Amino acid sequence: MHHRLHYADWSWREYAVAAGCLLTGRVNKGSAPQRLALAFAALYTPSTAYPVNYGHTGIDMALALFKSLRPARNQVLVPAYICPSVVSTIEQAGLVPIPVQVGADLNLLPEAVREALGPSTLAVIAPHMFGCPAKIAEIETDCRQADVFLVDDAAQVVGERSGGRLLGSFGDVGIVSFAQSKAIVTGVRGSGGVLLVNNPKLDPLLRDSVQALPAPHGRAAAFVDFVWNYLWSRYTGNSGYYLARVRSLLGGVNKTTARPARIGNLEASIALVQLRRLADIRAAKIEAAAAYHAALAELPDVAFPQYAPGRYLSRIMLDLPAWVDLAALRKNLAWCGVETRVGYLQPVSADYPDDAALLTARRMLGLPFGNLKCGEINKICSIVKSCLTAARPAFLNNPRHETYQTAHQR
Ligand SMILES: Cc1ncc(COP(=O)(O)O)c(C=O)c1O
Repeated sequence: MHHRLHYADWSWREYAVAAGCLLTGRVNKGSAPQRLALAFAALYTPSTAYPVNYGHTGIDMALALFKSLRPARNQVLVPAYICPSVVSTIEQAGLVPIPVQVGADLNLLPEAVREALGPSTLAVIAPHMFGCPAKIAEIETDCRQADVFLVDDAAQVVGERSGGRLLGSFGDVGIVSFAQSKAIVTGVRGSGGVLLVNNPKLDPLLRDSVQALPAPHGRAAAFVDFVWNYLWSRYTGNSGYYLARVRSLLGGVNKTTARPARIGNLEASIALVQLRRLADIRAAKIEAAAAYHAALAELPDVAFPQYAPGRYLSRIMLDLPAWVDLAALRKNLAWCGVETRVGYLQPVSADYPDDAALLTARRMLGLPFGNLKCGEINKICSIVKSCLTAARPAFLNNPRHETYQTAHQR
């Protein structure tokens, strides 16, 4: 049996609404973006909500505005462990990303943010890694005191709270992403996101920027790519890769979808269905995370740093012991039928080559997650256990080497 990574939890309703858009030709334009904006504004009230083509499109527009308001400042504080698209968005805006130390959960350490705030700091971008909430209220207080803009990067969550407040609603603006493995998934590459404007003074200016965005294009091809290569990969295997190669050999045009744009009608329609199903998707993930946590208790040298009982997570990411050869382990797991992934491997900067959290990040192993039955989770964990046991160097079984193990226990 193959245990594959899940990129989205789609029911027949998502396929039905997508088929409707394709058959009526309402793929790029239609009324769904407006309905999605209203649904998000209702959820995040009093913030305003602007659906766009990527989460980082929201960051891009916010940074451009911040820069125009405070031209003398050029630094943006980010966690040393972060999605690379956020870092490139900062650089493309002509600003300088400054990596700030993260804790074991890979979220910003508020004390490290406080220390890094300075006269050149324009903004702080604070994500909630793999769904685990950062200490965002503390960061918000410090940003306010330092008169620094705050982006509450809720790319991986929708409707989750910290201290009773919705993630994404802290600071000046928030963002949500609809890319694969997020809370709401509509596709991959340009399939959507939302800019939340929490500071009402910024709203008229950001509304103008959103209205100036170009219409999306090429969304039907992007949809087929997602369904073929991600959702149906169980049946289509590597055929998408070979088809793309043939197309490029025949001179097929590789249209870029990376530019900021509005969200497509097709993806906004799917997002609306996902939003209606969110409570069920969320409950299934909370249950699956708890089942993983229980099954992993038998692996004392493997940590699950983002987990807490009842917490929604966007991914299952394990922190493996230092002695593990990650590439060899993944190969072995693949051979045993377990598809895995790694975390973000590139640090923001080489400034912290020995930072413990970054070294941890390079040992992270992502396992299949989503609407999984307890039995499948137990099976996956028992395969992980036997692969780890097989890989464990014999000298570690000598009690004199126990320091190796304790350093990585939960
Ligand atoms: C924490 C975080 N911020 C921002 C983004 C960017 O989102 P998008 O790919 O929609 O631009 C991601 C994407 O994975 C993310 O994980």
